Amino acid sequence: ATAQQLQFIKDSIKTIPDYPKPGILFRDVTSLLENPLAYAASIELLVERYRDAGVTKVVGTEARGFLFGAPVALALGVGFVPVRKPGKLPRATLSEIYELEYGTDQLEIHTDAIVAGDKVLVVDDLLATGGTIEATAKLIRRLGGEVNDAAFIINLPELGGEARLNKQGIECYSLVC
Ligand code: PRP
Ligand code: ADE
Repeated sequence: ATAQQLQFIKDSIKTIPDYPKPGILFRDVTSLLENPLAYAASIELLVERYRDAGVTKVVGTEARGFLFGAPVALALGVGFVPVRKPGKLPRATLSEIYELEYGTDQLEIHTDAIVAGDKVLVVDDLLATGGTIEATAKLIRRLGGEVNDAAFIINLPELGGEARLNKQGIECYSLVC
């Protein structure tokens, strides 16, 4: 990744003050999605990083993780597995409760979507406290999948997510902060 490519991606992301509540600086990836060159560049940089990493599945977390995880999975030639908010998945599921920057939530995965030995790359739009991806990794590991890597478009380092995930044995890669 060149500094110029990363700056182009960063410049495409608008920051909205006081959304969804006062004091939050909301990094709005919908503005990146609206720019086809920035969207393509962000996917290409993630794919470049993991092309030869032996990944067998990509997991993306609802909702914005789908927008980046699914194209990365397609480009890597592996399956995409959605982790969803409660009650959305039709087959048997496992569930984890987690905390996020502004509230608590619950995530679910299909129990048959990960098989023992899967080498899973987790993709999301943004890393804040790391609670979402910690819960996602727990779901994958409960099913016997390996999670060594998580990739993001944006990292908010002051919220400590990277250190938290590193403690769980997960290496983080992000394009901008
Ligand atoms: C946002 C974002 C990440 C997560 C990051 O999702 O897309 O998934 O929060 O926060 P964390 O590192 O503190 O866990 P959100 O839960 O708002 O759901 P959405 O994508 O459905 O809007
Ligand atoms: N999810 C959690 N914190 C966020 C932030 N500051 N901007 C966008 N999405 C987020």
